[in-house]
Amino acid sequence: MQERLEEIRTQALESAESASSEEDLENIRVRVLGRKGELTMVLKAIGKLSAEERPKIGQLANKLKKEIETSINARKEALKDVHVRTFIPGLDPTLPGRQRRLGRLHPITQVMDEICSVFERMGFTVAQGPEVELDFYNFEALNIPPDHPARDMQDTFYIDDKVLLRTHTSPIQIRAMERHRPPMRVIAPGKVYRCDSDITHTPMFHQVEGLMVDRDVSFAGLKGVLTAFVQQIFDPDTLVRFRPSFFPFTEPSAEIDIQCVICRGKGCRICSQTGWLEVLGAGMVHPAVFRHVGYDTEEFSGFAFGLGVERIAMLRFGIDDIRLFYDNDLCFLHQF
Ligand code: FA5
Repeated sequence: MQERLEEIRTQALESAESASSEEDLENIRVRVLGRKGELTMVLKAIGKLSAEERPKIGQLANKLKKEIETSINARKEALKDVHVRTFIPGLDPTLPGRQRRLGRLHPITQVMDEICSVFERMGFTVAQGPEVELDFYNFEALNIPPDHPARDMQDTFYIDDKVLLRTHTSPIQIRAMERHRPPMRVIAPGKVYRCDSDITHTPMFHQVEGLMVDRDVSFAGLKGVLTAFVQQIFDPDTLVRFRPSFFPFTEPSAEIDIQCVICRGKGCRICSQTGWLEVLGAGMVHPAVFRHVGYDTEEFSGFAFGLGVERIAMLRFGIDDIRLFYDNDLCFLHQF
């Protein structure tokens, strides 16, 4: 009888352990512990044993019953887990997990923040103005006469005769000067709009305007601030050059080029073989602009500058088509 119990034990435990479904386990339970099960039959036959053997075999059989029940239940639990992982239709647990991509700042926002923090470290504070602007602030107060080409319908998005989408951040200069008296040092980051689109122009782009007004502000100061800015945004040994230019609201005016960051001045496709790249417009604030805001031109002088953020970002990241920034292609954006 003892041998029979051992045989039942080995078979039952082995088959419970290798069962691959709850159905298999139920079959094992019925075969061994059911009404006519192998172990049940042994238990029933105990009465026929000698008084000596009865308690010993009875005890062994009851212990085995518990052992087999425990083994069946344990396997059932294990299978539940495997079942969830392997038997949900369409779920392949061998596939790598799905990566949850974290959002991040747009490259233009990153560069814009960096530009602002460079100027903030030089004592400039941030000013803001409306994107839907009056013709007066966008043009008139900036000494841009009605026949100036920038007012052309092809460049400017007009809302009506007097209201437009600002074409540059320079109107914020006027709004800031109307509100505050010198000394002042402000930068004005924001979106601007022009009817323009090709590999270096988009209809909406970002500029950062800068304005410093005080007694004795000079062109040398302007050169110092912009050279320090360029060298912090690019390399500390980036060469900078100031070229005479024209803006109706500054006199004298300059355009600022940096040595091409791609070819280091040797000449390449990006810099059209010139070795230089234009990054900023700047100049000394025109007296006509000061008169519009009631500043005494004898007492105060100032400089202003304006830069295109997309251009800086293109140079920083080596991108040769500005429109990539606004295609919203995640493969592109995730590189930054
Ligand atoms: C201005 O907008 C002047 N307000 C800058 C200024 C401010 C000069 C203060 C003097 C004093 P400009 O039109 O050159 O200047 O534009 C400045 C920069 O904006 C350009 O150097 C260029 O980098 C960028 N930019 C111009 N048009 C576009 C466009 N459609 N798409 C992307 N960037 C542009």
